Amino acid sequence: MVDVVVVYSTRSGSTGKMAKAVADGAAEGELDVKLYDLRRSIFEDFKGELEEARAIVVGTPTHNYMPAYEVEIFLSKMGELNVRGKFGAVFGSYGWSGEAVYDVQRRMRELGFELVAEPLRIVEDPDEEGLRKCRELGLAVAKKVKGE
Ligand SMILES: Cc1cc2nc3c(=O)[nH]c(=O)nc-3n(C[C@H](O)[C@H](O)[C@H](O)COP(=O)(O)O)c2cc1C
Repeated sequence: MVDVVVVYSTRSGSTGKMAKAVADGAAEGELDVKLYDLRRSIFEDFKGELEEARAIVVGTPTHNYMPAYEVEIFLSKMGELNVRGKFGAVFGSYGWSGEAVYDVQRRMRELGFELVAEPLRIVEDPDEEGLRKCRELGLAVAKKVKGE
């Protein structure tokens, strides 16, 4: 039984590092956590896990003032699932404007997610402090799932 699914897209690896730390933080909550790189995964292969998860966390860099293309596709495919009432969170690395996470936040709200925190944004590569914030976000999601 999967509790939390963390999905992300990354080109130069920064959002990927954040995603790993978010997943580690959620696993500290002793939940079953899955991590998927959207550029290397096929939606249909983990669709069932998305449906059974209590929380879905989405990571995206900002590219040309928008979320990554794979994240856009993922969000539209999630519209075919019943995700209403699940917990959600958003994170991502950016360079200068960083609006992609807010776009994803809005779309997840429209899908009926209950977002557990404001989007976590980090400029370029996360440092130790940034990774700690990512683990904290994962743990916050885990606590919600456990009803704490
Ligand atoms: C083609 C391209 C377009 C980008 N556009 C933006 C942008 O519009 N706003 C922004 O804040 N950062 C922008 N960036 C910077 C990236 O968001 C930043 O490098 C980020 O750390 C990349 O995350 P990743 O390593 O997970 O791919 C852009 C980077 C590239 C390569």
